[in-house]
Amino acid sequence: MNIVMISPGFPLEQAYFTRALAQTGAQVIGVGDQPLEALPPEARENLAHYEHVALADEGTVLRALSGVAEHARIDQVECLWEPYVVLAARIREHLGIAGMSVEQANWFRDKEQMKLVLDRAGIRTPRHASAGNAAEIWEAAEQIGYPLIIKPIAGAGSADTYRVDNAEELATVQTMIGHVGQMSVEEFIDGEEFTYDTVCGNGDILFENVSWYIPRPLQQRSHEWISPVTLVLSDLSDPRLADGIAMGRAVIEALDFTHGFTHMEWYRKSDGEVVFGEIGARPPGARTVDIMNYATDGDLFATWAQAVTAGTAPPVTHKFNCASMFKRAEGRGRITHVEGLERLLREEGEHVCVVDLLPVGAQRRDWRATLLSDGMIIYRHMDLGETLRLSDRFARELQMYAE
Ligand SMILES: Nc1ncnc2c1ncn2[C@@H]1O[C@H](COP(=O)(O)OP(=O)(O)OP(=O)(O)O)[C@@H](O)[C@H]1O
Ligand SMILES: [Mg+2]
Repeated sequence: MNIVMISPGFPLEQAYFTRALAQTGAQVIGVGDQPLEALPPEARENLAHYEHVALADEGTVLRALSGVAEHARIDQVECLWEPYVVLAARIREHLGIAGMSVEQANWFRDKEQMKLVLDRAGIRTPRHASAGNAAEIWEAAEQIGYPLIIKPIAGAGSADTYRVDNAEELATVQTMIGHVGQMSVEEFIDGEEFTYDTVCGNGDILFENVSWYIPRPLQQRSHEWISPVTLVLSDLSDPRLADGIAMGRAVIEALDFTHGFTHMEWYRKSDGEVVFGEIGARPPGARTVDIMNYATDGDLFATWAQAVTAGTAPPVTHKFNCASMFKRAEGRGRITHVEGLERLLREEGEHVCVVDLLPVGAQRRDWRATLLSDGMIIYRHMDLGETLRLSDRFARELQMYAE
């Protein structure tokens, strides 16, 4: 089998998916922005061929692949990076290859299209409207009511996303989003926020995962002092998750998703009602696939690769609750010191899987631009209460300082 992999080495975890794809015996043809030398070795060493093209230039990508197709039959096109999921579908249509269509890919990319399809399937989405200019935003606000959320129609990383509580705030927010273009305006849903992630093969859900965001992503992004946590839950039979999981399965079916990774977000209100958030046809980012691997002692890079090539994969089940926590240093500039790490590792080290903090002397990262912030730790425990206790300790006692 000859499989095209879009962006095989960026973001970094793509390289592990690329390697896993090659390990199934497939010939992997990489197409990406990075020069060949810049690819991580896990990608470079596992590619049968590489086309270095600007992915944003669709015409060039299609021409390059038509050229490749003259020499080798292309059987499949895979893309696990959000900005190019629709490009992958265009390549399929251009070359006449089976797999997710452009229309279907847009359901995963355009937050209005997505909700319209799900509304028709009877899924509870936030009340929503799309708005392309000031007049439409005010009209949408009128129709939906406050509090509401305004966000880009194809956003990521909570960028340009605002909660708006009244007309005065709407006027202020409007001056900040002039550059964004088409927006999605939604009813604000108050509640806890979870994910429902899958690996599918041949139309079957082969692996399911639920993560709990602590606190909600919009708050993670609004307050620098917060240490954001993504907690992969081990007990999927917890009754508090049942309605969210049922919704997740219904969404996969409504969108007719058959092969690959999905990452959905959903809300659970205090009265127990669950509401759809969004879904991508890709794995969750910010190293969440690593967290799933530590939670299951599995290899989801391989599970995905087997699912998309053979349509099936050996079962992977959760053994641990496993969490990542991102740390943000106090102060600006370069990291000067880290407090609490030695004690925490002495007392809780058996539960810690990864410590990946910026070293002393390194320049701080921009916490607003990247969830990765100034570094992360991953820890796990079979008991959820204990996992939350670990979160609490690492949030309070592990502190980084900058100049
Ligand atoms: N209707 C809503 N009600 C309440 N909160 C919302 C709503 N829509 C978005 N949010 C908040 O904003 C965050 C970002 O929104 P959303 O997930 O739609 O955008 P994104 O930028 O694609 O996200 P990601 O960070 O997953 O890439 C959500 O995680 C949630 O905390
Ligand atoms: Mg989101």
